[in-house]
Amino acid sequence: MFQNIAVLTSGGDAPGMNPAIRSVVRTAMERGCDVIGISNGYDGIFEGAIEKLTGTILSGMIDRGGTILQSSRCKRFYDPAGIDEAKERLIQLGIQGLVVIGGDGSLTGARELHRRGFPVIGIPASIDNDMLGTEMAIGADTAANTIMQLIDRIRDTARSHRRCFLIEVMGRNSGFLALTTAISCGAEVAVIPEFAHNMSRIVHLLRSRFEKTRDNSIIVLAEGVCDAETFIFRMLAEEQGVSFDQEIRKTVLGHVQRGGIPTHFDRILGARFGEMAVLGLLQGESGSMTGLEQSHVKLVDLEKVIGFKKHPSSELIRLARHLQIEFGDVVE
Ligand code: F6P
Repeated sequence: MFQNIAVLTSGGDAPGMNPAIRSVVRTAMERGCDVIGISNGYDGIFEGAIEKLTGTILSGMIDRGGTILQSSRCKRFYDPAGIDEAKERLIQLGIQGLVVIGGDGSLTGARELHRRGFPVIGIPASIDNDMLGTEMAIGADTAANTIMQLIDRIRDTARSHRRCFLIEVMGRNSGFLALTTAISCGAEVAVIPEFAHNMSRIVHLLRSRFEKTRDNSIIVLAEGVCDAETFIFRMLAEEQGVSFDQEIRKTVLGHVQRGGIPTHFDRILGARFGEMAVLGLLQGESGSMTGLEQSHVKLVDLEKVIGFKKHPSSELIRLARHLQIEFGDVVE
């Protein structure tokens, strides 16, 4: 039986990490187990940056974006010797089990600790929503809502000035944020890494909208394809020297997408994942992560998740097609 477990947040912060931490602490306390907070991600293990988490620390955090534990991308975890050392440090610190809240890289670290015999459960948290084994990661819903609101604002200007706007969104190698916000904002084009975009079709679509009805257009570009500047350069090159009649502007949303008050969905998901991670650890589970599948929360083996690529669901692709969003062709 565990007397204590520790929790840390790692990688890019995601709204909903705080509700997840809170749920880990409350669930563990309810089960008679102490929770130690490790600050600054995996780096905190080496720094010995630990503190027992109590009700006082937890108050007023449920509605805050980011992570009260702070986060880092720990370089020492790229080296197997660094992970060996982390395991020893955890044992020296008297920590008996660990909950890691983070994205792909962070949960790879969790799997490595498990492989070395340290009990660990992961909670997927990344605005990119690029992890297999869960329909949603913590933070993706808030980020998508933020992007949607920002694109709605840009659409006001696009309409008023009959412009074409290219909006670059985050997502690393995933097109989830770009495709889903293209759907929710009624964008004309989504350019995502999972599909091969067809520049001549894009240019033709934008031009005919403008020529026929003087219509504005929105293109949502996933950062995993290329940056906005490069994309505009390629668009203009496709025109073979004939410039667009329509004005084109670009907006790179950047880190405003990652912060902010977690949505209802992300708070509930954080709470459910936090609870499930603690129950799993206390029941002797290790080497898995929490996942959402058809509204149910379950534990998924990290070996079946790490190193595999998540693709947009066929239902989402069909929807985008029926809504006449131009998003390219299947990559052969
Ligand atoms: O993984 C989350 C994410 O925001 C990605 O979408 C983005 O590519 C990356 O992190 C940015 O990382 P950083 O904040 O370290 O620049």
